[in-house]
Amino acid sequence: MSKVIKGGTIVTADLIYDADVLVENGRIAEIGKDLKGDEVLDATGCYVMPGGIDPHTHMEMPFMGTYSTDDFESGTRAALSGGTTMVVDFALPQPGQGLLDAIQMWDNKSTRANCDYSFHMAITWWGEQVFNEMKDATERGINTFKHFMAYKGALMVNDDELFASFQRVKELGGIPLVHAENGDVVADLQQKYLSEGNNGPEAHAYSRPPEVEGEAANRAIMIADMAGVPLYIVHVSCEQAHEAIRRARMQGKRVWGEPLIQHLTLDESEYFDKDWDHAARRVMSPPFRNKQHQDSLWNGLASGSLSVVATDHCAFTTDQKRYGVGDFTKIPNGTGGLEDRMPMLWTYGVGTGRLTMQEFVAVTSTNIAKILNIYPRKGAILEGADADIVVWDPAKEKTISAKTQQSAIDYNVFEGKHVKGLPRFTLTRGKVAVHDGEIRTEEGHGEFVKRPPNGPVNKALSTWKELTAPRKVERTGIPASGV
Ligand code: URP
Ligand code: ZN
Ligand code: ZN
Ligand code: ZN
Repeated sequence: MSKVIKGGTIVTADLIYDADVLVENGRIAEIGKDLKGDEVLDATGCYVMPGGIDPHTHMEMPFMGTYSTDDFESGTRAALSGGTTMVVDFALPQPGQGLLDAIQMWDNKSTRANCDYSFHMAITWWGEQVFNEMKDATERGINTFKHFMAYKGALMVNDDELFASFQRVKELGGIPLVHAENGDVVADLQQKYLSEGNNGPEAHAYSRPPEVEGEAANRAIMIADMAGVPLYIVHVSCEQAHEAIRRARMQGKRVWGEPLIQHLTLDESEYFDKDWDHAARRVMSPPFRNKQHQDSLWNGLASGSLSVVATDHCAFTTDQKRYGVGDFTKIPNGTGGLEDRMPMLWTYGVGTGRLTMQEFVAVTSTNIAKILNIYPRKGAILEGADADIVVWDPAKEKTISAKTQQSAIDYNVFEGKHVKGLPRFTLTRGKVAVHDGEIRTEEGHGEFVKRPPNGPVNKALSTWKELTAPRKVERTGIPASGV
C-alpha cells in the first residue's frame, strides 16, 4: 500500500521546497506536485525531513556492574517518538572476549528493534584474535571501531594499542572512534577526591576537567594522523577538545567531532544540586560543562568544525545510580536523550537562530549518513532512498516529562524543558511509527544496516598519504662504508 505525504515543505541539508513525497515498498518512490497514494498523510504546515540518525547509543549495555536499562525495544521506540529513525549502537566485547562473540550478542539483542540500526565495534583489548576478527567485523558491515581512552582497568586501551588498532582500521578502510579523556589522570584524580572525603556526584565532574579531554583529543588526532586514517571523536564536551578538532581540520586532517544534545543544553550546575539523586542522574563522561563550553559547541556546529549531534543514550534508573552513594566512582555513567535530541536541538538551535533548518538536518542526519558511508540510502529525501522520514510540526509544543516518555527509566534529564517543534509523523522504512503523536511502533521491524568500508574520505586521505609518504632517496654516488 502506497502512502503520500501531502502539502509539506521538504527540508534537506541543502534545499527547502514544497513537494509531496510518495512512499512505496519502504522507499521514496517519487517526489513532486499533486502525487496520489492509497493513504494520505497530511503535512500541511510541516517540514518533511530525513529521519534523525543517532550515531551513539548504548542499549542494554553491560557497564559498571549493571546493564543500561533501555533495550533495543524501548530505546528505538523512544527514538522514533522523537523523530529519530536509525541508531548506531556499540557491540562491546568484555576484555578478553572475541569481537564475533560480541557481535552475536548484539545481534540477539537487536532483533527487537523498532527502527533500523547498525553497530560500531568496540576495541576494548588488543591481541591477535582482535586483529583478525576486525576483518570479519568489516565483512559483516561494520566500518567503525570505537576506542575508550578512559575507564582505566575496564574498557581503556593504551597508546600502543590505539596505534596498532588505528593502523589495522586504516588497512580495512574503516574509521576509528575515540572516547577522548586521559584515563590515567582521571583515575588518580578520582582517588584524590575520594581520599579527601569528596565522594558526591560533583566530584565526578571535578575528576574529569576539560583539560583531560583536550589532551586525549590531541593525542588521538596525532595517532590517527600517524596511522593515516580519519578520526571521529565522540561526545565532544568542551572548548579544549573542540579546539583540537578545529585546528586539525584546518591542517587538512580528517577529523569529525560529535557533541551531544546534553552538553549543548545542560550545564555543570546540575552537579551542585542539593538533591543527590538529581545530581547522580546526570553523571556521565565527560561531565556537563559551563556556558563558555556550551557556546563553543554551538559555534562549532554553526561553523562546521563540529559535524554531528548525538545522545550517547545510556539510561540507568535512579536505583542503579544509587550504587554510587558514598562513592561517586561507582555511579553508573550515562544519561538518556534519544527521544529529546531532535525537539531539544530544534528548540534551542533553530528556534534561537543558532542553526538554520538545513544545518539541523545536516547535524542530525545527513552528515552522519555520509560519515558512516550509508548516504543517500539514509539521511536523504531522494527518490530511491529508504523512507525514513520525519514530518516535523514546528507549531507542536510540549513540556518534557518522565511521566510521558517512552524510555524505560524513571526520570528525564530534560524534565520541565519546554520544546516547540515535534514530529507529526515518523516513518521507518515506510511504516508509520508515530501517527499524529500516537505511537504505532512494531517490535522487530528494524533491520541491521550494513555499512561498507572505504568511503570517499578514506579514499581521499589514503591517496594523499600515499602521495606524501616519506620516500627513500635514490642516490647516485654512494661512498664505500667508512670503516
Ligand atoms: O557516561 C557515558 N558516556 N556512558 C556511556 C559510555 C560512554 O563512555 O560512552
Ligand atoms: Zn564514552
Ligand atoms: Zn557512549
Ligand atoms: Zn515491519
